Amino acid sequence: MALQVRNLTPKQLSFRLALGVAFLCGLVGTGVWLLNSPFSFLFTFLLFVGSLLSSYFIFLWGIKHFIDRKIRLIYKTIHNLKVGLKKDNQQLDMSQDIFGKIREEVIEWDKHNRKEIERLTDQEKYRREFLGNVSHELKTPIFSIQGYILTLLEGGLEDKKINRDFLLKAEKSINRMIEMVDDLDEIAKLESNRMQLNFQRFDLSELCKEVIESTEYKAKKKKIKVRLANNTKPTFVKADPSRISQVITNLVMNSINYGKENGETRIKFYDMDENILVEVSDNGRGISEEHLPRLFERFYRVDKGRSRADGGSGLGLAIVKHIIEAHKQTINVRSVLGEGSVFSFTLKKA
Ligand SMILES: Nc1ncnc2c1ncn2[C@@H]1O[C@H](COP(=O)(O)OP(=O)(O)O)[C@@H](O)[C@H]1O
Ligand SMILES: [Mg+2]
Repeated sequence: MALQVRNLTPKQLSFRLALGVAFLCGLVGTGVWLLNSPFSFLFTFLLFVGSLLSSYFIFLWGIKHFIDRKIRLIYKTIHNLKVGLKKDNQQLDMSQDIFGKIREEVIEWDKHNRKEIERLTDQEKYRREFLGNVSHELKTPIFSIQGYILTLLEGGLEDKKINRDFLLKAEKSINRMIEMVDDLDEIAKLESNRMQLNFQRFDLSELCKEVIESTEYKAKKKKIKVRLANNTKPTFVKADPSRISQVITNLVMNSINYGKENGETRIKFYDMDENILVEVSDNGRGISEEHLPRLFERFYRVDKGRSRADGGSGLGLAIVKHIIEAHKQTINVRSVLGEGSVFSFTLKKA
């Protein structure tokens, strides 16, 4: 019975209830008529029809009003859930098409939730990848150090030729670990926007000369010449000098690490309207096209084994990109395998 009532439309329900009321009225009218009262049959009939019609419309209005109130309540609840309960005192325009509004809000809410789920899934994937990469990268130097120590313990310590050599190698691995931990710290800061940039007006030529000087030792070892192409006039930019020094150092170090012996690295500036374009180019081993889109990703290396031996943590270019983007500028790479690479980024003129 309850189920039957639930399946009725408001009109059907009103009609049934009105029929009940009219029947009762008719019954009373008939009783009074049969008792020979002044009521006639016609009056009883009119009473029946009149009560049927009037109670039908009264019930219909009542039920519609009841449903309407419930729907508005649902709408209000959905809206409050969407905007957050703290804002529930805000005014809601309930005057028009509530069904349309509910539909709109539910669709919008669903879209928002899907986006949020996607974002959290991406974040979780990123976190897992990052942890996996970090532990993998740290294992390499840790196992090397363990190997050197075991060799020393198993007799190498007494051998003068071996002990110094192995201790030096262990120290090199420890330095690599320190470098990697520093890079990780740096990237964590950059990715959580905790890096404070100290914008200043400075001469980019001077800064590049300092970088060339500081990388000279490494360059000489590989017989690579690093030079500043247009070093005659000062070139002023507005940026964080220590961060830009880090960017140029990373790019120059890469050009040395992945350069050919007797090669050349060139730093050149180009004057653009509001910016200075800085190019660091080399004639080293180059990078094939398929690797270029992923080059600035964390831990991405073209030739995994070789780069790990030659280079650093695999975080260098990711840090470089973050720094340039923190300056609201862009960085690009062009390269031809076997011929060389060009890394270029922009800085605001000052
Ligand atoms: N100048 C370059 N020439 C050739 N390959 C490069 C150059 N710079 C970077 N790469 C490639 O890009 C990879 C990522 O560089 P980077 O993020 O600095 O990491 P790392 O130098 O620690 O390996 C390197 O491993 C190397 O394969
Ligand atoms: Mg590097």
